[in-house]
Amino acid sequence: MLAVYASAVGGENPLANLTVGELPTPVSRPGWALVRVRAASLNHHDIWTLRGVSSAPVTPPHILGCDAAGEVEAYGGEPPTGAAAVGARVVVYPIVTCGHCAACLADEPLGCRSFRMLSEAPLAGALAEYVEIPAANLVALPDQVSFADAACLPTAYLTAYRALFVRAGLRPGMSVLVQGASGGVATACILLGRLAGITVYSTSRDEAKRALAVDLGAEAAFPVERETARAVIGATGGVGVDAVVDTVGEPTWDLSLRAVKPGGVVVVPGATGGANPPAQLNRIFFRSVTIAGTTMGTRGELRRLVDLIATGALRPLVGSTHQLRDAAAAFAEMAAGELRGKIILEA
Ligand SMILES: NC(=O)c1ccc[n+]([C@@H]2O[C@H](COP(=O)([O-])OP(=O)(O)OC[C@H]3O[C@@H](n4cnc5c(N)ncnc54)[C@H](OP(=O)(O)O)[C@@H]3O)[C@@H](O)[C@H]2O)c1
Ligand SMILES: [Zn+2]
Repeated sequence: MLAVYASAVGGENPLANLTVGELPTPVSRPGWALVRVRAASLNHHDIWTLRGVSSAPVTPPHILGCDAAGEVEAYGGEPPTGAAAVGARVVVYPIVTCGHCAACLADEPLGCRSFRMLSEAPLAGALAEYVEIPAANLVALPDQVSFADAACLPTAYLTAYRALFVRAGLRPGMSVLVQGASGGVATACILLGRLAGITVYSTSRDEAKRALAVDLGAEAAFPVERETARAVIGATGGVGVDAVVDTVGEPTWDLSLRAVKPGGVVVVPGATGGANPPAQLNRIFFRSVTIAGTTMGTRGELRRLVDLIATGALRPLVGSTHQLRDAAAAFAEMAAGELRGKIILEA
């Protein structure tokens, strides 16, 4: 099958480690399903894997990609009771856990120490014509949800959903600052926040991306500079935002701590621009700020996102679409930060 994989990791140029070529088609184990991928999406995670700095390093060759939607091709052994029929349209919940620790037994997969996402060793990734996944990870896709829209959901939109509504606890009428306007998670936060009746502010390094944030429904978008904290506090009646979602890290951390209200929450799903800003613990304790790390979300949350598309409430922002064989161009866009939302690969 055609696959997009890391043929090496580390070094100066992560994109030099990317190869598109033929690899053996997987054969499904008992309890697992083989999915014929129709659309997959890129995530910054794929760049971390090529850099050799992801949380679960891989041994090349290793297929990249966390997100896929497609059709059930086959099951290894008997399909579990209630499983989607062969040929059914599905989106893949990308988290695989041990299944028997206390967290797994309590149906809290994010607490499992064996937590792995598709593409994290030993799991092969989704940027291929076929991907193997536990049968329990298949989520049914109604006909009105396109494969491309569905492929946006499992990582970026799921992470944004949990960051906003679970970790930050945002409710209608509250406010959020989304750092970095243009990325997959950031655009998902703007769209989902707006949909839920939350007032969204955003920042970006780039003027055109700030305009994009406003087009998507942000109340206002600001450059990444110190004065922006004053502007956000002013816009929120002198208080500051209820929450910040900061996937950028070092370039925006100071602004996050200044713009959040006393007693507010700074949710951290990632750190694209560097993971070690000065912590400024004085600001955190003196103003009772909660710092909430977050990763991915649950199967139920993924189902809710599918429903939001099916009912017409949500349309994920897709910035560009490429064929699987043209993955190098798609990766170059992401590495250069030229994206506008999600990048789709059609298989
Ligand atoms: N914890 C989880 O479960 C989880 C899930 C998904 C993603 N993540 C992490 O969240 C981050 C975003 O992921 P993504 O897939 O949305 O990535 P992406 O699409 O590549 O987004 C990059 C974002 O970073 C912003 N950015 C600002 N300053 C930057 C800088 N100096 N260098 C690079 N980017 C900068 C960009 O904003 P502007 O260009 O508009 O300024 C853009 O919003 C990544 O670090 C990823 O690993 C974590
Ligand atoms: Zn477990």
